[in-house]
Amino acid sequence: PDAGRPEHDDRDRHDTPALLEALDGRRPRRTPVWFMRQAGRSLPEYRALRQRAGVSMLDACLTPALAALATVQPVHRHGVDAAVLFSDIVVPLRLAGVGVRIETGTGPVIDAPVRGRRDVAALASRHLGDDEAGALGAQAVGDAVTMAVDELGSPSSPPRPGAAGGRIWGGDQARDRSSTARRLAGARESRGEAGWTPLIGFGGAPFTLAAYLVEGRPSRDHLAARTLMHSDPAAWDALMTWCATTTAAFMSLQVRAGASAVQLFDSWAGSLSPEDYREHVLPYSALVLEIVSRAVSPTTGRPAPVIHFGTGTARILPDMRRAGAQAVGVDDRTGLAEAITALDHDGQGPCPVQGNIDPALLAAPWEVLGEAVDACLEAGRRAPGHVVNLGHGVPPSTDPDVLTRVVARVHGSPGWERAA
Ligand code: CP3
Repeated sequence: PDAGRPEHDDRDRHDTPALLEALDGRRPRRTPVWFMRQAGRSLPEYRALRQRAGVSMLDACLTPALAALATVQPVHRHGVDAAVLFSDIVVPLRLAGVGVRIETGTGPVIDAPVRGRRDVAALASRHLGDDEAGALGAQAVGDAVTMAVDELGSPSSPPRPGAAGGRIWGGDQARDRSSTARRLAGARESRGEAGWTPLIGFGGAPFTLAAYLVEGRPSRDHLAARTLMHSDPAAWDALMTWCATTTAAFMSLQVRAGASAVQLFDSWAGSLSPEDYREHVLPYSALVLEIVSRAVSPTTGRPAPVIHFGTGTARILPDMRRAGAQAVGVDDRTGLAEAITALDHDGQGPCPVQGNIDPALLAAPWEVLGEAVDACLEAGRRAPGHVVNLGHGVPPSTDPDVLTRVVARVHGSPGWERAA
């Protein structure tokens, strides 16, 4: 496996962060790692921030300094290879004037669920940023991205810790964070890696958003959404087209403000048959990615590579790729090796993958988790690029030290060898 790569020296310095290398289908020196839901309740500093701010989840997403700080907290604590914007898939619904809130322990709740043709028509007349509150909200999301990128750095400017935090925390915390951030950047640079950390923007895929809009709240099998899909194809088309353009506007705005990569979350796509996915869902996810591909990130000077993630997606992975993604996120119900093989399909060749440590193992003894991390790295060597992540989000009860330890384990393993 050793391809005879020389020990690194100055000539071997990488200005491209490992995450972006992996998404481009290369094997960086070390395999990159980040965690879905890394910004959130598993971190005491996040809980303190939310408590201090005393605002609802969605209002927190629309408060730039707060959202930027929650975004960078896990980078400083764990040394992960990417930040993910602190926001939510339902934020663009709010910015388009839809009555929605997030209930702790439940998830998004819609005031007036979309039940038929007439509701869809009313929805379709709304656009992200149309009214004053929506326009201000869109501005706030862009500002949160800009502030987070200031903190995380870019190819042209080093990280500037304190860009967001100083406005929320007093001097001591800002100084602590400053030195943490400097240490992190220094350690990366001394290893010959890029001194900046890319920000991942995201959006919910049309089916997952439509499922919330129709059901009105999280549901297990999305019956009402699937009924509408089959019983009124015209209303379904209008609803899915609206979800696609709305979430695409939200993602594009993050890219234009400085996100270097994006993830499309189709969390509920696994509840569909492959036939239904292909016919009634995929074209709209493809529309999202087509629109997003036109946005250029000022951080990288190029469009954002896309990670397309869902759960229970073993049978639709090649379709998810075909929607226009550079990489596919694999959940923990699918074997990573099996997913890599499935994605190498129709002569398309293999593609970069992200995943897929079982979040349940975060609470297991370290020997068990450590072996799972190694197995994940091993399986990932068969792909042209591998981003280590969990198979789904970090459970709120997770001990954050365990996440830090997982990052260290991944970084301790060389990433550039690729299995034959
Ligand atoms: O760290 C990150 O991943 C970045 C931020 C992020 C959040 N939500 C913050 C959040 C991301 C990427 C999301 C995506 C999201 N939101 C998805 C897709 C990913 C998935 O989990 O499948 C979905 C389905 C939602 C909808 C949603 N929002 C749910 C189901 C919940 C959980 C409700 C609960 O209390 O358990 C939320 C709330 C939410 N989104 C929180 C956070 C940090 C917790 C709210 C809080 O801190 O009070």
